Amino acid sequence: MTSFPHDTAGEPDPLRALDLERLRRRTSMKWRTYPEDVLPLWVAEMDVPLAPPIVRALTDVLALGDTGYPVGTAYAEALAGFAARRWGWDGIAVERTAVVPDVMLGVVEMIGLVTQPGDPVIVNPPVYPPFFTFVAHMGRRVVEVPLGADLRLDPAALEEAFARATADGGRAAYLLCSPHNPTGTVHTAAELAAVAELAERHGVRVVADEIHAPLVAPGVTFVPYLSVPGADRGLSLMSASKGWNLPGLKAALALAGPGAAADLARMPEEVGHGASHLGVIAHTAALREATGWLDALLLGLQANRRLLAELLAEHLPQIRVHPAEATYLAWLDCRALGLGDDPAQVFLDRGRVALTAGPPFGTGGAGHVRLNLATSPDILTEGVRRMAVAVK
Ligand SMILES: Cc1ncc(COP(=O)(O)O)c(C=O)c1O
Repeated sequence: MTSFPHDTAGEPDPLRALDLERLRRRTSMKWRTYPEDVLPLWVAEMDVPLAPPIVRALTDVLALGDTGYPVGTAYAEALAGFAARRWGWDGIAVERTAVVPDVMLGVVEMIGLVTQPGDPVIVNPPVYPPFFTFVAHMGRRVVEVPLGADLRLDPAALEEAFARATADGGRAAYLLCSPHNPTGTVHTAAELAAVAELAERHGVRVVADEIHAPLVAPGVTFVPYLSVPGADRGLSLMSASKGWNLPGLKAALALAGPGAAADLARMPEEVGHGASHLGVIAHTAALREATGWLDALLLGLQANRRLLAELLAEHLPQIRVHPAEATYLAWLDCRALGLGDDPAQVFLDRGRVALTAGPPFGTGGAGHVRLNLATSPDILTEGVRRMAVAVK
């Protein structure tokens, strides 16, 4: 698949727009979970202003009092257009999409459509902790198939797990994180085609969480799971939530491959009612009109990845950071610091910097932390300074 050039069209880097004083006035989880003396570099919210086309769309809606229920397919059409322009993929058929409240509730609904209580759901730790909690809450059994030492999918281990999960003729699902949170791994077309082939061979249903898809580094190509050969029966969740920082404006899309259309059609209509009209409008504006803003963000994130590597090399050379190809997260291996299984607690207690703890990411999480680098270079620099203070 072709990699499309990034075009910032002169847009300013949104990561440099806000200072700490402005950010501390925010009331969201990132800013209100810890006391004021803690610098928050944890939960996946970005320290950016809203993209201007989203502000315009929401302002118009508020001025009109247009705050009723969502209807129609504008969000799906906007995503189809974005996918075609960005990834050269014209495979999103609006009739095989459904609006869902958010990506994780969409994941739960999709897994619910293709498995029964007690069935196994395979995940690749270290992985986004709600993959464990949401799947357990819906009465499915989480089966871990860790990423390889290179933090990529391990096809041999997946094959063994798929075979075991379906050995008695039962149902199983594979919850793929693409791109992968927390490592920022971008799965290649060949890796995804291998997954599709294995899943088909063993009768495992693939549900791909592709929320981080817009956030690949310049020059890296994201491959939609449903675009690879053999992924016909796959299901995917996409959203503008991560790429444009819209988690407070609830809306996401479930997509079905042609062979999964009948499954998606069984999704109860009321599930879609959990998405908000404002969310649908904001996500649609993002995908349609805010790609210049996104490109400026991606350049800023790439600069921050480099800055983080330099800062760690200078102040905390014991920490190993795997170069991420996507997301705005950095997965830091702190084991050489000897801080135990949960270094995030030490960084918080002694350095007053909040990072996301590694152990809830499952196997491979101990001794690690996840750092959110979607912030200004100044705040990132201060965060690493605080981490260094913690281990002096
Ligand atoms: C992989 C992944 N899936 C889902 C979510 C949450 O998305 P939503 O708020 O749409 O449920 C996140 C948030 O960071 C994530 O990283």
